[in-house]
Amino acid sequence: MNPTTTRIPLATGLPPKFVWGVATASYQIEGAAAEDGRTPSIWDTFSRVPGAVHNGDTGDVACDHYHRMPQDVALMKSLGVDSYRFSVAWPRVQPHGRGPVNEAGLGFYERLVDELLGNGITPWVTLYHWDLPQELEDAGGWPHRDTAYRFADYAMLVFDRLQDRVDTFTTLNEPWCSAWLGYHVGVHAPGRRDFDASLAATHHLLLGHGLAVQAMRAAETRPHTYGITLNMGTADPHGDTEADRDAARRADGMGLRLYLDPLRRGEYPADVVADLAARGSAMPVHDGDLEVISTPFDVLGVNFYFGQDFAGTDADGNTHDEQGEPVVRAVLPDTPRTAMDWPITPERFTRLLLRLHRDYPGLPLVVTENGAAFDDQPDETGYVADDDRTAYLASHIAAVAAAREQGADVRGYFAWSLLDNFEWAYGYAKRFGIVHVDYATQERTPKQSALWYRDSIAALRA
Ligand code: FCB
Repeated sequence: MNPTTTRIPLATGLPPKFVWGVATASYQIEGAAAEDGRTPSIWDTFSRVPGAVHNGDTGDVACDHYHRMPQDVALMKSLGVDSYRFSVAWPRVQPHGRGPVNEAGLGFYERLVDELLGNGITPWVTLYHWDLPQELEDAGGWPHRDTAYRFADYAMLVFDRLQDRVDTFTTLNEPWCSAWLGYHVGVHAPGRRDFDASLAATHHLLLGHGLAVQAMRAAETRPHTYGITLNMGTADPHGDTEADRDAARRADGMGLRLYLDPLRRGEYPADVVADLAARGSAMPVHDGDLEVISTPFDVLGVNFYFGQDFAGTDADGNTHDEQGEPVVRAVLPDTPRTAMDWPITPERFTRLLLRLHRDYPGLPLVVTENGAAFDDQPDETGYVADDDRTAYLASHIAAVAAAREQGADVRGYFAWSLLDNFEWAYGYAKRFGIVHVDYATQERTPKQSALWYRDSIAALRA
């Protein structure tokens, strides 16, 4: 493997016991979409809708990880990571979204876990990273209450088989994306555009999380760590006006507090509930739901990419849109951007971690995703000298160290992502990997950022 050539200094300021990892998600890397009994997920369906995904890309083959798993684990080992965060594809394990386990599908994850353990890498399981079995979507999807119960049943199939070897089970990845992007904005699977359906989806995702944690804890034969991963940013007022402050409050309410308040405080935030009531909407709460949703858990997974500002007026100065709803307009701060056009805002990452520590105390934090896409230019050997990505990682790891110094209980960091992969609606056009993937040959080549990460981890442990 090439030596690190970048002049970006290695990461410092984190203790030897800090957990270093890499993360991926099933649909983004596995491929083998129709093998060993796997049925279509909502992403298989959605990626076939004309215009839904850049270039008509699908996850049919992706990184072919399903067939190259041992080699990919060897790659992780060569980077020296402590832990690997991966997700389990529900339609592999339980192809109809209900009913018995599909042994061939679950067998893949057993082999993966064994391969990881055999290489000294700790598995970190995410039970749901967006690939809902299509049959469950056809039955109503997340807006349908029954899906929460189906999720808890599915979680138990995985837990029963893996609990002897896996310590950490997280339920959902970024429920905001599932609910808001999938059911309201329609840019993620299943591509619906229905505000109230997205609220119901939020509630049932959270309910499914709570039911799954309760069921797993009740069935455990030894103690485990349970958690959930949320995507979070920071929402600052664009200008010093009442309208902009209110827009920031609304964005924070719908994006962060709508999830963390029920999870940690057992109630939906009153201001958000009032905003929803003003438009004739409500969370579909049944008696006892909030007790289930606020079931104690052990670790909060934090996915951070960028922070934003919000304005309460549109470009023409209107405070309400055509439907009469208050304007909540994201304004990107004036910083350099990634290939996603996402602003690079590490100081807001520190602020987010400190805010989580302050507002939702007593909950260890682990950064379960952080990383960046850039327009990589591989040389003739496939090597990418990605100073931009390396600098992004360096500044965000420094932001974690700064948050820890100021008291935030952050225990680990997973780089997104091990491999270039299927970036949802962007298809294969956006590369987040610290390892380059040549999709024509499936050849993997660690980028400079991977080598910097490897060397940083080694130096911090020394
Ligand atoms: C997150 C997703 C992850 C990846 C990154 C870039 O929202 O959890 O799968 O797509 O964004």
